[in-house]
Amino acid sequence: MTTHNQELFRCDNLTKNFGGLTALQGVDFLVSEGEIVGLIGPNGAGKTTLFNVITGVYPSDAGRFTLKGEILSGLAPHQIKKKGISRTFQQSRLVLGLSVYDNLFIGMLESFQAGFVDTLIRRSRFKRELNGAIEKANELLSQFNEELVDRGFTTVNDISQIDRRRLEICRALATKPALLLLDEPSAGMTPEESIELMNDIRGVQKKYYQQLAIILVEHDMLVIEGITDRVVALNYGQKIAEGTFEDVAHNQELKEAYLGQ
Ligand SMILES: Nc1ncnc2c1ncn2[C@@H]1O[C@H](COP(=O)(O)OP(=O)(O)O)[C@@H](O)[C@H]1O
Ligand SMILES: [Mg+2]
Repeated sequence: MTTHNQELFRCDNLTKNFGGLTALQGVDFLVSEGEIVGLIGPNGAGKTTLFNVITGVYPSDAGRFTLKGEILSGLAPHQIKKKGISRTFQQSRLVLGLSVYDNLFIGMLESFQAGFVDTLIRRSRFKRELNGAIEKANELLSQFNEELVDRGFTTVNDISQIDRRRLEICRALATKPALLLLDEPSAGMTPEESIELMNDIRGVQKKYYQQLAIILVEHDMLVIEGITDRVVALNYGQKIAEGTFEDVAHNQELKEAYLGQ
């Protein structure tokens, strides 16, 4: 696997309590530019909570995280997104009744310059921006799948599960993130579809976004082995193992954590 040395993201001592429950406890790890890090651990281990903390959904109770050396902990979600951390959700956030384009535009809205007034009285400026957005949307969609471009006006209800996942990832990429967080992107798909999606993710990153780092939550260990450069394992909110897949696969504590599920 490629080695990447430039540090991109770091979290130190991240801790999050929900009442009496400690969902994250003293979690620290690094992510380098271009790296794909697998985040694993049994249900309830704290994986989604970690994503919620590093996207600003929940403030952490202790610790901090940085992107390119800049402290982002304490910022609001939209600020963190602007700084370069983008995500997809375990439960799809697509609007099923809207078209592929509309769903993508929702992700791109924050980067639009034209305001409401422009849409009413400065129509040429608005139109220019809208055309630019369609071009950008087509570019993103075609990076994943040329056929998705032809489905720009199709409602999400009428596209396949795997195309919905591709669309969600495109939407997260629309803000040009440095770090992309994918929370169980293959959930609800057949094993074949999930392999196809993972190959797409790896392929798109290699071809178009070499600097982009990805943290991927995934339960299928074959997928983790096949796609990730490194793995971080959580159990009861604590990091219990970290290293290459081979290192982590033999970790006794991790084996027991999965067996105890
Ligand atoms: N908003 C919340 N309020 C209370 N408890 C929560 C909340 N979010 C997560 N938890 C709890 O934190 C723990 C970790 O959950 P989660 O991060 O969703 O785990 P994972 O994604 O690894 O399955 C679980 O015990 C879960 O019930
Ligand atoms: Mg989760």
